[in-house]
Amino acid sequence: MRNVLVTGGAGFIGSNFVRYLLRAEPDARVVNLDALTYAGSRENLRDLPGAERHVFVHGDIRDRERVGTLMHAYSVDSVVHFAAESHVDRSITGPAAFIDTNINGTFVLLEAARAAWLDGTARRTDVRFHHVSTDEVFGSLGPGEPAFTEQTPYRPNSPYSASKAASDHLVRAYGHTYGLPLTISNCSNNYGPFQFPEKLIPLMILNAVRGKPLPVYGDGLQVRDWLHVEDHCEAIHAILRRGRPGETYNVGGNNQPTNLEIVRTICGLLDERFPDSPHRPHERLIRFVTDRPGHDRRYAMDISKIGRELGWSPRHSLADGLRDTIDWYLAHPDWLAAIDAKGEFQSWLAQNYATRGTA
Ligand code: NAD
Ligand code: DAU
Repeated sequence: MRNVLVTGGAGFIGSNFVRYLLRAEPDARVVNLDALTYAGSRENLRDLPGAERHVFVHGDIRDRERVGTLMHAYSVDSVVHFAAESHVDRSITGPAAFIDTNINGTFVLLEAARAAWLDGTARRTDVRFHHVSTDEVFGSLGPGEPAFTEQTPYRPNSPYSASKAASDHLVRAYGHTYGLPLTISNCSNNYGPFQFPEKLIPLMILNAVRGKPLPVYGDGLQVRDWLHVEDHCEAIHAILRRGRPGETYNVGGNNQPTNLEIVRTICGLLDERFPDSPHRPHERLIRFVTDRPGHDRRYAMDISKIGRELGWSPRHSLADGLRDTIDWYLAHPDWLAAIDAKGEFQSWLAQNYATRGTA
């Protein structure tokens, strides 16, 4: 039996990955360590396939003793590290938590893996530390610039991306210095089921359905490289099991619409879905609001390495993925009610948008 420690497995991508892994590896036990911050929820872990092989641990990756104990108690042989503060806007208003969790938390995990796997004579080679990172570490692309490759120098622009870049460097250094068998993936923007609605796509879906304003930052012409979360999970799994130790892999969706195009597409899909809605056409709800400070203009990922080495490419088209995602949010009112009941989403809306002016 494989014993996989997943950190942040009650969050958006982590919970999707836990589902994916339990299905993909019938002999794997998943130990899911999550602090259940505002972004994590047990609701994301309902009805897991192979639930008897899933152990949820409510705890913090910064807790050295806890992490060390887990590594030994469950004979962990693989770590997949998602846990992080992940929202750029929050990193602008409150960077401290990002430094603490994303950098110090990663350091604690690395030390625990080093102690468990590389202690003196018993150095293990049948183990893997996979670190989940972001394309934002590469900074922002100008209009004609080529997509980010694994060789693109790091140039993070926000406290979030700087903290992720720092954690990437730490992971790499543990490979170089101590021989920790590691892999890193840098991925573009994800969307899909279980995403906390502070992020663009679920926020626009929920606000549009509720007839609330759709806040587009600046001119809305920023570009992201959208990837369905299930495609990301498949890529992480391929890297975890077949990626070369010490390597980093770029992961992306091969599509780069503007934010405004994304929002308009969602509005059009909702118009079709609710022909009698009083909010139709939903585009009327769009409001151009003050831009995010330091807002990165464009991201694009060159995914040729992972395609060449591991045969991975995205399966979902953006059009189908958006349609499915809208369907998922509409089909899960109980999940939304649980998010609303926690109050974090509404208080975030009030905090982030109340003071924004019109662009
Ligand atoms: P998320 O915010 O939805 O979930 C983060 C999870 O980590 C939550 O369950 C939270 O409770 C947990 N967590 C936070 N601090 C913790 C701590 N100190 N100890 C234990 N658990 C803690 O994030 P996400 O969007 O699922 O992103 C997961 C990872 O993927 C992050 O590392 C992020 O940087 C990276 N990533 C995200 C995207 C994206 O588009 N969302 C793209 C590329 C990479
Ligand atoms: O690129 C990968 C990154 O994608 C991940 O590392 C981050 O964890 C994840 O949060 C995401 O970062 P972004 O800042 O790109 O995602 P967000 O959904 O917050 O915003 C997407 C774009 O939409 C961005 O250009 C800002 C814009 N936006 C966002 C919100 C929430 C708006 O115009 N209005 C909004 O209300």
